[in-house]
Amino acid sequence: MPVEELSEFVDKLEKAGELKRVKTQVDTNLEISEILSRVMYSNGPAVLFENVKNYDMPVLGNAFGSIKRLEIGLENSDFTEIGQRIVDMTRMEVPSGILDKLRKLPELSKITDIAPKLQKSGPVTEVFEESPSFEKIPILKTWPKDAGKFITLGLAATKHPETGVRNLGVYRMQILDRTHALMHWQKHKRGAHHYDIKKDSGSKIEVAVIIGADPATVFSAVAPVPEGLDKYVFAGITRKTGIKTVKCRTVDLEVPANAEMVLEGYVDPSDIRMEGPFGDHTGYYTPPEPYPVFTLTGIMRRQKPIYLTTIVGKPILEDAFIGKVIERSFLPLIRMFHPEVVDFAMPAAGWFQGMAIISIKKRYPGQAKKVMMGLWGMGQLSLTKIFIVVDEDVNVHDMNDIIWAVTTRSDAARDVTIINNTPTDTLDPASPTGQSWLKTWNRCHPEDKGRRISKRDSGTCKIR
Ligand SMILES: Cc1cc2nc3c(=O)[nH]c(=O)nc-3n(C[C@H](O)[C@H](O)[C@H](O)COP(=O)(O)O)c2cc1C
Repeated sequence: MPVEELSEFVDKLEKAGELKRVKTQVDTNLEISEILSRVMYSNGPAVLFENVKNYDMPVLGNAFGSIKRLEIGLENSDFTEIGQRIVDMTRMEVPSGILDKLRKLPELSKITDIAPKLQKSGPVTEVFEESPSFEKIPILKTWPKDAGKFITLGLAATKHPETGVRNLGVYRMQILDRTHALMHWQKHKRGAHHYDIKKDSGSKIEVAVIIGADPATVFSAVAPVPEGLDKYVFAGITRKTGIKTVKCRTVDLEVPANAEMVLEGYVDPSDIRMEGPFGDHTGYYTPPEPYPVFTLTGIMRRQKPIYLTTIVGKPILEDAFIGKVIERSFLPLIRMFHPEVVDFAMPAAGWFQGMAIISIKKRYPGQAKKVMMGLWGMGQLSLTKIFIVVDEDVNVHDMNDIIWAVTTRSDAARDVTIINNTPTDTLDPASPTGQSWLKTWNRCHPEDKGRRISKRDSGTCKIR
């Protein structure tokens, strides 16, 4: 049976020795993030902060910060299986006659098994706040120069305005006041695409932000699934069982019935404000940029929800492990389009988007370029800065093997291709738009071990 909800995941992590509870009072303003970053940089456990200053809600961080925890959450130790299930579905033969249909019934029923199941109510419908406010939620400020508090692991649910295909994406949200926050969906992401279509017709887009859900649904929101694939269906593929959903109260969207909390609202294209700075996945503060405003219209929640969060910064932090599972699970899909691909790695130190190494079974001259161009045309891989293509005998997960191959089998003048004016990640500190970027990581990176941490807003930092 898949893990159905966050509290069940917490129990399982605790039983496996993968979670620590902190009962001492901690502050959402820089203190929890300081503790979490130290725990993450030292490969520590998930942490449940049970006594959060000024809030009546526990905060869970680093829940996905190891492969073991992801194996527990997704009930799987071979993540390539996830992508393989999608590939198998595309190859499923359509039955012709009645006998054939009966023969293929078990296979066909697998498709209905993974579909989301709409229910009238669920744990998340226990409470509805008609006068909602972000102020009751223990949202963190992560880095000293961040523009404020940011929701970092909310799953933004939208519907494609024309096809109705449901999407979930993790896009950070900067809190502005009780009911307004900035929605940082980058231009290349699906949420922003849905928003752009609505904007063109002059209307607002309904959005529901899910805080805390079963691990497969959280994973689905981060996964760059193939275009047109419903993320709720993808969550079902990941769990091998469809998720349960309920309808929101103030917007026409479905959300996971087992969620901890759902922030309902809309994003208005006529209300654009500056977002950031924010200490980002690269280890640099992303400078302020314009993003649209989310207006909160209602909160659905459990009686006693857990606030699920994470912190981002110079790799390697929690997001790296989710990225690893994405890398493994998407290998079969990459092979579906490029069968010569043997293996594929996106090193965490390159914040995943930065670099990919691909090994291929080469059959003809120029094939490395063919694969490279093909991958540069696949969804979010278009944002990858550097591809290194190696022969099949090179282990893409072994940096020594890669450096050996690059230095013995390539000639830079002949083998390097540089392409200008391609899509680029707005997070990239070296992007051609070149602004000055500040480092975030001075205060807690292992390289700074032993250095005195400067006095921050929250005073001294407690680590237990
Ligand atoms: C912790 C975390 C924070 C993220 N924050 C953002 C963000 O602020 N904006 C964004 O566009 N993508 C962000 N992402 C990446 C997206 O979630 C990811 O690209 C996802 O595939 C987007 O879904 P989509 O392809 O359905 O749009 C974040 C990912 C993680 C793990």
